[in-house]
Amino acid sequence: MDLVKRLEEYRDRERELMWEGTFAEYFEIACKQPAVARLSHERIYHMIIDAGVDTTRTGETRYKFFSDEIFGIEKPLQQIVDYFHSAAQRLEVRKRILLLMGPVGGGKSTIVQLIKRGLEAYSRTPEGAIYAIKDCPMHEEPLHLIPYELRGDVEKEFGIYIEGDLCPHCRYMVDNQYRGRIEEVPLKRITFSEKYRIGVGTFTPSDPKSQDISELVGGIDLSTIGEVGVESDPRAYRFDGELNIANRGVMEFVEMLKTDEKFLYVLLTLSQEQNIKTGRFSMIYADEVVVSHTNEHEYQAFVGNKKSEALQDRIILVKVPYNLRVSDEVKIYEKLLKQSALQNVHIAPYTLRIASIFALLTRLEPSKKAGMSLMKKLKLYDGEDMEDFKQKDVRELQDEAVREGMDGISPRYVINRLSNALIKNNVTYISPIDALRALRDGLDQHTSITREERERYLNFISEARKEYDEIAKKEVQRAFVYSYEESARTMLNNYLDNVESYCNKTKLRDPITDEEMEPDEHLMRSIEEQIGVSENAKRSFREEILIRISSLARKGMTFDYTSHERLKEAIEKKLFADLRDVVKITTSTRTPDKEQLRKINEVIERLVAEQGYTYESANELLRYTGSLLNR
Ligand SMILES: Nc1ncnc2c1ncn2[C@@H]1O[C@H](COP(=O)(O)OP(=O)(O)OP(=O)(O)O)[C@@H](O)[C@H]1O
Ligand SMILES: [Mg+2]
Repeated sequence: MDLVKRLEEYRDRERELMWEGTFAEYFEIACKQPAVARLSHERIYHMIIDAGVDTTRTGETRYKFFSDEIFGIEKPLQQIVDYFHSAAQRLEVRKRILLLMGPVGGGKSTIVQLIKRGLEAYSRTPEGAIYAIKDCPMHEEPLHLIPYELRGDVEKEFGIYIEGDLCPHCRYMVDNQYRGRIEEVPLKRITFSEKYRIGVGTFTPSDPKSQDISELVGGIDLSTIGEVGVESDPRAYRFDGELNIANRGVMEFVEMLKTDEKFLYVLLTLSQEQNIKTGRFSMIYADEVVVSHTNEHEYQAFVGNKKSEALQDRIILVKVPYNLRVSDEVKIYEKLLKQSALQNVHIAPYTLRIASIFALLTRLEPSKKAGMSLMKKLKLYDGEDMEDFKQKDVRELQDEAVREGMDGISPRYVINRLSNALIKNNVTYISPIDALRALRDGLDQHTSITREERERYLNFISEARKEYDEIAKKEVQRAFVYSYEESARTMLNNYLDNVESYCNKTKLRDPITDEEMEPDEHLMRSIEEQIGVSENAKRSFREEILIRISSLARKGMTFDYTSHERLKEAIEKKLFADLRDVVKITTSTRTPDKEQLRKINEVIERLVAEQGYTYESANELLRYTGSLLNR
C-alpha cells in the first residue's frame, strides 16, 4: 500500500465532505445532481439499490445491502424494500410508520441498525451527498429557502421538486440576518451520524412518568430564555429532540408500542402531516423515516385496543419471523461467532449445523400432509429433495403454516449456549455433541418456556442427535473408504464388468481360469441395494450407468467411482458395510494392535487434512462412532 497516496486520497475525500458554500452555489449543484435534494425515503431506497441487486437461483431478489448480514429472511426484506420503493415515489405509504414485528432475536434491530449505519456511510459517498443550511439544528433542506411563489417555476424549469417550509430557527435567521437575501445564506455538506446527532436518531421508551416529550420534539432553552423573554422566539427553543435531529434521515423508535400514548400522538402528526408540533410554534416540517419494532404480544394488544385505531391506520407492518433454512442459520452463527472473542476455538464440522437443526425444529409448525415429518420439512426448506416430497411442495407447506417462524429458539439463545460451552473448562474445541448438551442444559435456565415446550424441545434435541449420528457414521465412513480407495476402485470395476455383460447379454471371462461365467447378480444387487434400487428398477439403473460411461467416453473422459453420485454412494456404503466390522473393532478397541493403530492414524490424518477436523476432534469422532456401531 502506498501510504502517502492513500493519505492524499483520504484528504481529498475529507475536503469534499467539508464543502461549504452559499445557497446560490448549492442551487447549481442541485440542478446538475438532483439526487442531492432527495427526500428521506427516496434516499434510503437508492442507498439499498445502489449497493447492488442479485437474483438467486430460485428467482428471489437479493439485496446486497442486507445480504452480508441478514440471512434467510428474504420476504420481510423484500417488503421493506417495497415500502421504500413506493415511498420514494412519494406515494401515500411514506406517511406511514414502518413497524417490524417478530419474535425475540429474530433480526429486527439488526435490520434497523443496517439502515442507520448504511445511511451514515452513504452520505459520505458522492451518490449519497447531502447538504443543509449551516447551523440549522434540523440540518434542513436548503431548497426550503425558495419562497412559495417561485417554487412552481423552479420546478417547471429545473425539474426540482421542493417540499416543506423553513424551520423557525432558519426563518428567523433569514428574516433578521439576511433580510431575505436567500442566495447568500451559508450552507454546508453534511454527513449523517448518530453519534453527532445528525440525521439519525433513536428514541427508547423509559418510565412514562419521568420521560419528557422534549426528548422527542425539543424544549425551552433555559440558557437563553432569560435574554429573549418569550417562549415563542426561536432563540429561546432548542430544536434538539430525536425527531428534530433525525430530520432528513431515519429515526428508530425502539419498542414503539411500549411507549406512553402522548409520544404516539406526536408520531401520528408526524406521519400524517410530516409536521412536528413543537412548543409554541406552528407545525414544523420534517421529512424522516420512522422505523420501529415490537413483539407479537404487544402488537396484538395494540391492535385489540380501539383507542389506537388512528395510529394502526398509519402503520405499515412487516412481519420478521425467524429464518427457517438450516444453511442460513449456520451463516448466522458463523457471523455471530466471528464477532465474538471465540474465534480461536475450533468448532468441529457439523457442530453449527446440528445446533441449527435443533433451533429450526423448535420453529417449524407440524404439517397436516401425510408422511411429512418436521425433519423432512426442515430438509425440504433447506433445498433438499426427499424421495416422497420435492421442492415444488415447499410452497404448499409455507401456505399451510401461517405462524411459522414466529416462535421457537432464537439465534441469540443458541450462540449464548455455545459460548457458554466454549468458555467452560477452557476447551480447545467443541463438537456437535457438546453443542447439544449445552443447548439441553440451557433449557433448565430458560425461564420463558413452559413445561410442555421443554418436553417438546428435549425431543428435538434427541432428533438432532439422531441426525448427527447418521452424519458421524458417514464422516468416518468417508475417511475409512478413502484409505480403502484401491478397494473402492476394484469393486467399481467389478461391478461395471458385470453390468456390461448383463445389459449386453454377454458372458464374463474369469481372469484366472479363462472360464465363461454368467454376470454375478448377487454382487450387483448387494451394491444396488445399498441405495435402495429395487428389483424392478435395477435394469434401468444399470442402463443409465452404461449410458453415462459412453457419454463420458465420447468426451474423452473415463468413468471412475466419483462419476456417478449415487453409484459412488452405493460403493461407499457397500465398502463400509464390508468394513463395518473393521471399523467397529478399530474405533472401539482400547488396545489396538499395530495394524489397527496404523489404520486409525491414517483415518485421523484424513479427517484432519480433508474434512476439517483437528486431531482432538477427529479422535472424539472416532470414539463416538465406535460406540454407535457397538450398540
Ligand atoms: N436472519 C438473520 N440473519 C442474520 N442475523 C440474524 C438473523 N436473525 C437474528 N440474527 C442475529 O441474532 C442477533 C439478535 O438479533 P436482533 O437483536 O436483531 O433481534 P431482534 O429481533 O431485535 O430481537 P429483540 O426482539 O430481542 O430486540 C443479532 O446479532 C442478529 O445479527
Ligand atoms: Mg431488538
